[in-house]
Formats: sequence, structure tokens, C-alpha cells
Amino acid sequence: MATIAEAIASASERLSGSSDSPLLDAQLLMSHVLKRERPWLLAHGDAELPRSEYEHFRRLAKRRGEGVPVAYLIQSAGFYGREFTVHSGVLVPRPETEHLVERALAEIDRLAAGDALRVLDIGTGSGAIAVTVACERPSVSVVATDRSSDALQLARTNAVRHGVAERVTLLAGELHEAAAVHAPFDLVLANLPYVPTGDLPQMPESAAYEPRLALDGGSDGLALYRRLLPALPNMLRAGGVVLMEAAPPTIDGLAALARDAFAGADVEIVVDYGGRARVVCVLTREPGSASRSSTTQSEPSSSHA
Ligand SMILES: C[S@@+](CC[C@H](N)C(=O)[O-])C[C@H]1O[C@@H](n2cnc3c(N)ncnc32)[C@H](O)[C@@H]1O
Repeated sequence: MATIAEAIASASERLSGSSDSPLLDAQLLMSHVLKRERPWLLAHGDAELPRSEYEHFRRLAKRRGEGVPVAYLIQSAGFYGREFTVHSGVLVPRPETEHLVERALAEIDRLAAGDALRVLDIGTGSGAIAVTVACERPSVSVVATDRSSDALQLARTNAVRHGVAERVTLLAGELHEAAAVHAPFDLVLANLPYVPTGDLPQMPESAAYEPRLALDGGSDGLALYRRLLPALPNMLRAGGVVLMEAAPPTIDGLAALARDAFAGADVEIVVDYGGRARVVCVLTREPGSASRSSTTQSEPSSSHA
């Protein structure tokens, strides 16, 4: 048998060939097995692991070595300072998507002027975006859609877990369609699949364990956004904002689609902390108001960071 520290060290070494963060992965798995926070593990590294926990930990570490995302193994992922329940039926929420949330919160504050705003989240998955926005801005109500009923069930679990179920309405359906009866919205958010089919991850990459429905954006990565965008002007109030996540190489194409759909709107690309173009931001105008910026180029024009 081994101590906690020995088991973590040996798993970390075995994972070093397949994971970018082997020590953290091993600690998270041990933390899950022992139902203790990571600092507790450090303080109790010399404690002997009971056999059943040791075997459980080794099984999880083996699965991690095969590429299964840690989040699926521990059924939990951190997002914007909260833990979200996840399983293999949904995308693991990404740190990059926190940029979309950050910009959404800034736009809510700019648009709100004391009003209770209405936000639409299309392709909500685990509910990471919808639930976070509802938690961070208690006057906002959110409608969230997904095609996957598994995902919607999980989003409900997360909305209840974080105490916002009354302000997050979850609807099953294609893209925005089920939400049309709730239009117009002040803010529309979407992190739809945008990986070109030919670039989909392959085993044993961790992302290959995630649902294809959450990743596959069609031949050029823009199939879903191309279907969604023409419908969005009818879903948004004048002066409202749309934020959509993508990444190079698809993001310039997404900005172009947004310009086609919203003639006269300002279209910006927001850059993430890693310097990658990450979010397309469409700022529509109130009737009679002037453009907020003189450029609508697709180069990364501003970072909200
Ligand atoms: C990239 S994941 C994003 C999940 C979550 N919003 C996040 O940021 O972590 C895309 C989500 O869109 C959903 N989706 C894919 N195609 C869809 C469609 N045609 N209509 C509605 N939702 C769709 C998937 O089920 C998945 O949950």
C-alpha cells in the first residue's frame, strides 16, 4: 500500500506522458476519492491510503492516462469561481469561455440602467454561461436552449445547485427556436460548436471524449452559426448585444456572418488572455443613434481584459 503523497507522486509520474498538468490531475483525483480539499491532501501526505481508496484512485488515474478528462472522472469542473456538475454528455466548460461571460457582465451593466434584463444563452450545455450570468447579476433572467436533453437536465442540476433555477428557463430545441416566444432579448450569448469536422480531436486527446454534438461545427466550423445568425435580429431588441464564441481560424468568418446579419451594427472581436481572437461582439444601435466605433474590421480590436 502507499501513503497519499506516494500515490499522488507515482500517478503524477505516470500521467506526465499524457497530461499537461499531471500533478494537478493526480491531486484532483485523490481529492475526489477521499472527499477532501487539495490543501488537506498536502497536510496529510504521510497518511496511509486504505486499500479500497487506493484501488479507486488507481482506476481513475488509469482512465485519466487513457485520456478521459479529469472533469468527467470527478463529475465536476470549475468555471468562473464555481463548481459545475458535468458528465460525458456535455462539453467541459473551458476557461476561455470565461471571456465571453466577462464581456456579457460588462454589457449587462452598460445596458441595464436599473432594468431587469433578459438574456438568451444558445447551446447551454452544462449551463455554465447561463447559470454564471444569473448568479453574477441577480436582476437578470436567462432563457437557455440546447438540442441535447441530457445537457438540459444537467443545466437544471447546476441552476438548482447555485440557487438560480427560478431565473433560468431551460428549453429543448434547435438553436434559438424554442426561445422565440420569449423574444426580444437584450443580450444573446452563444458558444456553439465551431470546430471544423476535419479538425475534430482524435483519441487519445481528452477532447475526443467530449460529445461530437458539442464540438462539430461542420466542414468550415460555421454551419451552426450560419443557420443561427439570420434569425438573431428578430430575437434582439434594438440596442441589444450578441456575443458568440469561436477561435481562429473560424472567427473571422463568424465576424463576417455577423456583419451580414446585422447591417449597421458594430462588430468587434475580443481577444482572450492568451492573445487569441475568441469572441465576436455585435453591438446593435438604438434607432437614430450613432455608431459606437468608427471601425468594424475583423482584426482583434479590443480586449475587455
Ligand atoms: C461548445 S458546447 C457549449 C456548452 C456551454 N455553453 C459551454 O460554454 O460550456 C455547444 C452546445 O451546443 C449544443 N448544440 C449543438 N447543436 C445544437 C443545435 N443545433 N441546437 C441547439 N443546441 C445545439 C450542444 O449540445 C452543446 O451543449
